[in-house]
Amino acid sequence: MQILSLVLFAALASADPIVYLIRHGEKPSNGSDGLSAQGLERAQCLKNVFGPNSGYDIGYIMAETPKSDGKRQRPYDTVEPLAEELGLTVDTSCSKTDYSCVADVVDNYSGSGNILICWEHKGLGEIVEELGDDDAPTYPDDDYNWIWTDPSPYTNVTAWTNEDCPGLDV
Ligand SMILES: *[C@@H]1O[C@H](CO)[C@@H](O)[C@H](O)[C@H]1NC(C)=O
Ligand SMILES: *[C@@H]1O[C@H](CO)[C@@H](O)[C@H](O)[C@H]1NC(C)=O
Ligand SMILES: *[C@@H]1O[C@H](CO)[C@@H](O)[C@H](O)[C@H]1NC(C)=O
Repeated sequence: MQILSLVLFAALASADPIVYLIRHGEKPSNGSDGLSAQGLERAQCLKNVFGPNSGYDIGYIMAETPKSDGKRQRPYDTVEPLAEELGLTVDTSCSKTDYSCVADVVDNYSGSGNILICWEHKGLGEIVEELGDDDAPTYPDDDYNWIWTDPSPYTNVTAWTNEDCPGLDV
């Protein structure tokens, strides 16, 4: 019995979270801060994509630290409605270019479920690289719809999945 418990414990302890990475929603064409109407729609859509009835089992959500002047707010605004839906608080403790901070949070995570990271698109490859992929992909400048799947041991993005948000995708 004790041996069985140990085996089970080892199996659970080694179930590292899958990391999913997304870009923030669409930006206004006039260059102002925050999300455009489309970006706000995408944020609502993500409640379905990653919500409680999805297969993603999101247990933790990260977005880059927003600035008090309204800059760097898009990633947070993109996942905040989803976080509310899941009863989670978005972790904004890592700033835009502090990719090792993100990797530390992932490596330290011992909660249940998987981790969703929302960032500026140029940072997504950097985060993947920091996690251990020495040939990280490049997120296309004009796209907003991809979910990257980066399973443990985080050495390769194994899938690009379309968020499939009605009326928004490329
Ligand atoms: C720019 O676009 C955003 C979103 O579409 C809008 O909320 C904002 O008022 C616009 N700003 C200016 C200066 O036109
Ligand atoms: C991760 O864990 C290490 C060792 O316990 C700790 O020193 C570090 O502060 C943690 N980092 C984060 C981002 O939680
Ligand atoms: C990474 O994943 C992609 C997509 O599944 C696959 O085509 C590729 O061979 C993988 N690369 C490595 C180094 O495992």
